[in-house]
Amino acid sequence: MAEPLRVGIAGLGTVGASVIRLLDRQSAALAARSGRSIKVTAVSARDRTRERGVDVAGLVWFDNPVDLAKSHDIDLFVELMGGDEGPARLAIEAALASGKSVVTANKALLAKHGMSLAKLAEEKHVALAFEASVAGGIPVVKTLREGLAGNSIERVYGILNGTCNYILSRMELEGLSFEACLADAQKLGYAEADPTFDIGGFDTAHKLAILTSLAFGTAVDAEAVQVEGITAITLADLKSAEELGYRIKLLGVAQRTEEGIEQRVHPTMVPRSSAIAAVMGVTNAVTIDADAVKELTLVGPGAGGDATASAVVADIADIAKGIRSAPFGLPVASLEAATRPPAQRHEGGYYIRLSVHDRPGAAAAIATRMAERQISLESIMQRNPPAKRGAANSGTAKPVPFVLITYATSEATIREALDAVVADGYIAEKPQVIRIERE
Ligand code: HSE
Repeated sequence: MAEPLRVGIAGLGTVGASVIRLLDRQSAALAARSGRSIKVTAVSARDRTRERGVDVAGLVWFDNPVDLAKSHDIDLFVELMGGDEGPARLAIEAALASGKSVVTANKALLAKHGMSLAKLAEEKHVALAFEASVAGGIPVVKTLREGLAGNSIERVYGILNGTCNYILSRMELEGLSFEACLADAQKLGYAEADPTFDIGGFDTAHKLAILTSLAFGTAVDAEAVQVEGITAITLADLKSAEELGYRIKLLGVAQRTEEGIEQRVHPTMVPRSSAIAAVMGVTNAVTIDADAVKELTLVGPGAGGDATASAVVADIADIAKGIRSAPFGLPVASLEAATRPPAQRHEGGYYIRLSVHDRPGAAAAIATRMAERQISLESIMQRNPPAKRGAANSGTAKPVPFVLITYATSEATIREALDAVVADGYIAEKPQVIRIERE
């Protein structure tokens, strides 16, 4: 058997500790599959004394991850610290520059510096592997890069953030508050160190930018992603969605259009009967529409120590076997610049929740503003709370919810119609608008 692969790991949080445990638990199988044993020999983390449930006593300890990355005593550097600059970037650059392959789960860093890091890896003839950076335990990077190499891809979309899906699922099923669900996601180790990355949609955008590059042969460009998070989603929206036959998911969508590759992240209404609507909790799902395979959906755990460690270990095993793919599927110089089609061009159906002053003419005015712009309505729902039923229609009472589902139209048309509805004076709050995505 060949020499053992000596692995250095920087970052011993939930994922780092799980990687050490998984490599240990699967050491015999991994050695058999890779043709050489895989040994963690050195680690780096912020606090040497913290209890992590793994024994690091026999490993060489580095206070500075860059020193670990440069060390001649490791063959492979695994970065699990996170952060799109600072130590993570410096350490990965140092490892690549010193001719070592790198495995990372750091989507934020790849979304920002993926191109320069891939170029450096290419120049040094080493691997830069990042299966764990997107959709946790789902092997979607390899699926797009190797498994679907014979396809032309039209659309990739999915639930890419476990925290958001966990929050939306529990709010819907248990009627819990947003804050309570987020606190639980943090306790369970799903959320980012700064959960704004999750709930603001940025984590999904980072992952989508990586998938877009792999699917469409474009340079990673997170700035090209239109991003909207889930913080404005209310229990009322989740309830209305249910009544109208939909479910709300935070989706990342990358789609080939006549104007280039559209990349967007936003809360989305999906038909309750769709495969993606059934994906609940921390589970992620990615659907790929491609010419030869037609439609492929991968479903699995999107966050958490073991699931993410599974992807990290798969990359380590590839490197142990000597596999080195172009990180984004093509040599960096062959990747095309990402396009940025304008958001207002998006076409599809919409869910609109209005808070309406309950006066005669309100519903007619809303319907008129829609009809004037050829917006066709699939459903209309106004159901006053029981306490209000039969009460005098004086115009002073609390506003009531008025929910519409439209057939396909453009985002610009919807915004224009809503501006006109607001100007009519029947609306008490900013309208809630959620796009509908069909299978
Ligand atoms: N915070 C991320 C999530 C972790 O919730 O999906 C995995 O990237």
